[in-house]
Amino acid sequence: MAEKKLGVLVHGAGWVSTQHIKAFQTNPNTKVVAISSRRLESCKLRAEEAGLTDVEFYTDYEKALKHEGIDIVSICTPQHFHAENTIAAAEAGKHIVIEKPIANSLEEIKAMRDAVRKAKVKTVVGFVLRWNPLFLTIKRMLADNALGDLYFVETDYQSNIASWWSGFEYARRKDTGVSAFLVGGCHAIDATRWFASKGEYESAKPIEVFAYSGGWRKGCDTEYNYYTKVWRTNAPKLEYDGFEIALIKFDNGVLGKVSVNFDSIMPYTFPIEIFGDRGTIKNNRVWSHKFPGQTGWVEIPTILPDTADVTHHPFQGEIDHFVECILNDKESHCNLEDAILTHEIAFAALQCYETKQPVKLPLI
Ligand SMILES: NC(=O)c1ccc[n+]([C@@H]2O[C@H](COP(=O)([O-])OP(=O)(O)OC[C@H]3O[C@@H](n4cnc5c(N)ncnc54)[C@H](OP(=O)(O)O)[C@@H]3O)[C@@H](O)[C@H]2O)c1
Repeated sequence: MAEKKLGVLVHGAGWVSTQHIKAFQTNPNTKVVAISSRRLESCKLRAEEAGLTDVEFYTDYEKALKHEGIDIVSICTPQHFHAENTIAAAEAGKHIVIEKPIANSLEEIKAMRDAVRKAKVKTVVGFVLRWNPLFLTIKRMLADNALGDLYFVETDYQSNIASWWSGFEYARRKDTGVSAFLVGGCHAIDATRWFASKGEYESAKPIEVFAYSGGWRKGCDTEYNYYTKVWRTNAPKLEYDGFEIALIKFDNGVLGKVSVNFDSIMPYTFPIEIFGDRGTIKNNRVWSHKFPGQTGWVEIPTILPDTADVTHHPFQGEIDHFVECILNDKESHCNLEDAILTHEIAFAALQCYETKQPVKLPLI
């Protein structure tokens, strides 16, 4: 345990912040000392729900960053604020949790990277599925050579993101959400990178991308709420294609296929398929040379990445890992530099729709 608890400022007091606050409260080495947001009521509500009494509220982020004793800033605002929020936190010398997606353009990403490098602060990006129990198990199995050498990985983010989500109003718009891959599909892109490397704490480096986009929801005012099973007309419109699919070449020779599907009429689903020269994984089912007598798929009882509900996401694992990195002066495998490689695939897909040509990476 650290001598003094690390002080935390949570910025953007919405849905995901509830889980960041909870994880920092639970970690024995951190204390939430301030919450900032657009509206004071939201800060108060988050504190009240979490039972926080000794906490300061701010509606001015610059002032909040000056609050005494802040070591970590957790950025939970909508994505179009992430770049400026990250740069300000880095310039103030704070370690930073950056919710996904990290930014809305390559220019913003470059500016964030430069600010973080200059400030030498630690970062972790909200690819929280890296701490999902099935993900942890698969990575350990890959590292243990359960599938031999890998050659193909596919993951898909199939979530009918709509008005049920508090963040939808910004996320659905082209100027603030940008694309389906960026808003939600980046989780699947990151998972493909993560599983395309056999290293337990390593992700694969993309070198080329080709993508198509389509689907039916763009510009359509019909919306399906899969929680209530209700169809709605006059719904806010998605301003970009809700379906994107990309092929990725990695520098280790593995090929990836990834899609994002906001147009699917079904509950949230996150399928995973990993193929190696000695075995295969399909979600939590395994076929491996390690089980020479197996006569059917071996099923791992575990927690699957099968809901969009933030209360189910393993934020505790992500935050505990980040605090360890800070206390031991280690870089996270999921830091800003690594997350840039995930985001570049989403931006390469957008370039592809313009040029109709494969896009070579890196872009920055
Ligand atoms: N890693 C994951 O699995 C995961 C899951 C969910 C969301 N996320 C990401 O987390 C981010 C936030 O999503 P969310 O679902 O929490 O959205 P949300 O519920 O809309 O919360 C965003 C909060 O940001 C605040 N805000 C808006 N504009 C602001 C501004 N100019 N300055 C300060 N605060 C401002 C809002 O504050 P007020 O209430 O004060 O008006 C709102 O409460 C998004 O990037 C999203 O993609 C990640």
